[in-house]
Amino acid sequence: MTDSLQRVVTALDKVARTSLVWPRGLINPGGPHRVLAGTLLPVSIGEDECAVFGRLIERFRPAHTFIVGNAFGFSSCYIADVMSQHGGQSVVTLDSEVEGRGRDCAAVARRLADTLQLNLLRNKKGRSPEDTARAVETDCHDLVFIDGDHRHPQVMRDFEGILPYTDEHTIFVWHDFWMTGIVPCLRLAESRGMKWMGLPTSCEMILGTRDAGIFSELRDMFPAGIENQSPHSPLLAPAIIAKIIAQQVWESITYRLGFTHSVTQTE
Ligand SMILES: C[S@@+](CC[C@H](N)C(=O)[O-])C[C@H]1O[C@@H](n2cnc3c(N)ncnc32)[C@H](O)[C@@H]1O
Repeated sequence: MTDSLQRVVTALDKVARTSLVWPRGLINPGGPHRVLAGTLLPVSIGEDECAVFGRLIERFRPAHTFIVGNAFGFSSCYIADVMSQHGGQSVVTLDSEVEGRGRDCAAVARRLADTLQLNLLRNKKGRSPEDTARAVETDCHDLVFIDGDHRHPQVMRDFEGILPYTDEHTIFVWHDFWMTGIVPCLRLAESRGMKWMGLPTSCEMILGTRDAGIFSELRDMFPAGIENQSPHSPLLAPAIIAKIIAQQVWESITYRLGFTHSVTQTE
């Protein structure tokens, strides 16, 4: 585990009770992911996916990052912690607090950022894309992470909302390629000159940029990446979601009855 990941996990354990989910990964080997204990959603990115951000930040040293979808702050705190060691200046998150116990998540995110003393991180409450222009603090972001509502056409809306605050060098990261809204957004991104590739992380991350040189470096850094990865069967997302809901409902019931499991497994 990297220092940043260790710091974030230790701090999170101090400020909230969480459960691990998908300890061996969801679509690919990886994980674990986290939820606030006793909740079904939102689910954080996996630890293996934090490592992807770590490598991106160490290599490209983004000054400004924008994140759609913050939940309880796991990914944003990890990103901000690594950026703070690599010349980063700002990380802004935008979250509408609609998923799960949204207000509790936001409170945990605040406490986590405070505990880690991440002064470059600013968490904002609001809806993407309606509040994106109000939330941004710079004209151009070097790194954008889209991890809000993954349904179509919301992902496209998130992308179009932040696009004016990026340039050709910006690296975009999407999470959950297997969910229905990502592929239509990637088609839109292609039409704006973006190249992209899928990474075989737990929930499948996508990296994209309009800069051919940066894209070539990304391909070298992540040789397992698949350029223009083919979409999954449309049946995959409903099947996974049904399985997740069934397993997490069970976890929630056993949590309330006091038979808490620390790990929910999806194999
Ligand atoms: C998957 S979670 C984000 C997880 C987070 N990136 C992490 O790894 O720790 C998705 C979050 O997006 C938020 N969200 C959903 N629709 C949104 C929208 N239109 N604008 C802003 N946030 C939204 C939800 O409230 C939820 O907290």
